[in-house]
Amino acid sequence: MARAVARIDAGAVRANCARLKAELGEAELCAVVKADGYGHGVQICTEAALAGGATRLAVATASEAERIGRRFAHVPLLTMGALAPPELDTVLEAGSELSAWRRGFLDLVAERARAHGRPARVHVKHDSGMGRLGNPDPGEALALLGACAESPDLEPVGIWTHFATADEPGADGGFFEAQLERFSAVAAAAREAIPGILVHAANSAAVFRDRRAHFDMARCGVAVYGLDPFQGDPGERGLRPVLSLRSYVADVKDFAAGDSAGYGRTWRADRETRVAVLPLGYGDGVRRGLSNDAEVLIAGRRYPLVGTVSMDNVTVDLGPGADVEPGAEAVLIGAQGDGAILAEELARRLGTINYEVTCGISARVPRVPLSS
Ligand SMILES: Cc1ncc(COP(=O)(O)O)c(C=O)c1O
Repeated sequence: MARAVARIDAGAVRANCARLKAELGEAELCAVVKADGYGHGVQICTEAALAGGATRLAVATASEAERIGRRFAHVPLLTMGALAPPELDTVLEAGSELSAWRRGFLDLVAERARAHGRPARVHVKHDSGMGRLGNPDPGEALALLGACAESPDLEPVGIWTHFATADEPGADGGFFEAQLERFSAVAAAAREAIPGILVHAANSAAVFRDRRAHFDMARCGVAVYGLDPFQGDPGERGLRPVLSLRSYVADVKDFAAGDSAGYGRTWRADRETRVAVLPLGYGDGVRRGLSNDAEVLIAGRRYPLVGTVSMDNVTVDLGPGADVEPGAEAVLIGAQGDGAILAEELARRLGTINYEVTCGISARVPRVPLSS
């Protein structure tokens, strides 16, 4: 019995990577392992992703690069995010490739790379419509690549972009295709100027949406973890959920009609019933927004979560005469018996996306490989 544990299925990570590779063909798979592997545990998931066919890794921050670079030094790693000067040193020290889109920053990269005694490997980012990081001017982006090629302290490795609406097919007014067209022109010019340059644009959704977006490599996160990029059922795309969030029944109480459970008395029994207490709550990442709006699997059956989610406890209405005993396993995300609760279901209830559900599982919850 564990108070709260995230079971991580490394076999599912491997299978999901193999599924993505089958879709990608010749193009490389870069596993995005930022934010502790989307909350799944970066160590377990990175090993499994590499075993499943990923040949590159990407993170967002310098501290993530430091951690991954040390452990997986043999695998090319890209730090995708913006870097303040001290973070730049950390990234270079970690041996990570980095992203640049402004001349001033590129000059700083060259200066710091010289101090580190090794050319910095640079991916120039073009903002083709995301309106976030990247240089929106195709000419400037190409000029930055040229500057990398001319500098002894810089090595041009990639040209890349990121899609804003890859996960909204048929609902984005053609914005994805417009981004793809803008970027394709930049990519063609970059390939002509620097043969062998690595061109990449696709996230998980774009891999499934349009082959033309695959280029030389796709940066996939959510699908690696068996979460559906389109917020539907991952199984329909051949993806297997990797994470399950499990707890146990710490106590079972008999309630009379009118008895209430939890802060604010937001739920009261309308009949005699039995109520289970599970010892996990929003301190573990079970969001308070699920109060009176979620279901939990116990003994293979779905039961409603009732009352307000506390920091360390939630309550579940088992119904009159239920024969659930303390010690029974409870599943908040994942499968039990014939039942399953997807992160996508919780996301829908919360008005958010599956990414936020798994990233929100707190550090208090151990991530444990399935077999141990
Ligand atoms: C720049 C960039 N590329 C790729 C990804 C991976 O996207 P996904 O998890 O949708 O596959 C992300 C994730 O947010 C990202 O920020």
